[in-house]
Amino acid sequence: MSRWSSALLLLALVGCGDPEVEDALGDGLERVEVTDTCTTGIQWSKGVDGSPNMLPGANCLDCHQGGIQPNLEVAGTVFAASGDQDGCAGVEGVTVEITDVAGDVFTFKTNAAGNFYGLALGIEPPYRAMLRYQGRERPMNFEVTDLACNRCHAQVGVDGAPGRIEAP
Ligand code: HEC
Ligand code: HEC
Repeated sequence: MSRWSSALLLLALVGCGDPEVEDALGDGLERVEVTDTCTTGIQWSKGVDGSPNMLPGANCLDCHQGGIQPNLEVAGTVFAASGDQDGCAGVEGVTVEITDVAGDVFTFKTNAAGNFYGLALGIEPPYRAMLRYQGRERPMNFEVTDLACNRCHAQVGVDGAPGRIEAP
């Protein structure tokens, strides 16, 4: 086979991946089987490659307040179900509202992985949180100081948290 035709063959093979579907999912996200611990059937696939969609469910601030840029002030993931595993994408388009002790309100929208984050906002703990999605709400009836949401809201909750932050 000539160099040209193998280059064309490669292009054709790359073209088979149905890029439209992958684009719709977002950077680094791929479709997997729906399971009890990945109820969206969408999974982060790029390890520790930097992306707003990276590592849904991980404690972002472990890295992003540990010298890795961007230096995030607050971060978390909103999941479809409270027992979803690390790496499983959550729910896009959920509004996360944080009200700090000074009464200032900070609003975020979850991305394709269910992640949300903010930097250099000056949130003053302790704070409360409220989720809004499709006309429904879910409050955190509990004031906390730690802005690393996923530290407590791990697959199995820590410090009394009920598992994941779950979309309303
Ligand atoms: C194990 C460490 C680690 C964890 C945990 C982690 N990240 Fe990252 N993140 C990185 C690295 C490494 C980069 C790339 C940094 C660079 O390029 O300088 C990055 C980059 C990013 C970027 C910048 C991407 C860009 O396009 O410039 C964002 C946004 C981000 N991470 C968000 C998050 C969020 C949200 C979470 C939690 C759900 C998270 N990260 C968890 C290591 C981590
Ligand atoms: C120090 C641990 C901790 C941190 C950090 C934390 N939470 Fe919570 N969260 C809890 C506990 C404990 C509860 C259970 C009390 C309750 O039901 O309101 C809870 C409950 C919730 C609920 C209601 C869950 C349900 O199923 O009804 C939401 C929503 C929530 N948290 C969102 C957040 C968000 C958003 C962040 C980060 C901005 C965050 N949490 C950070 C401990 C934490």
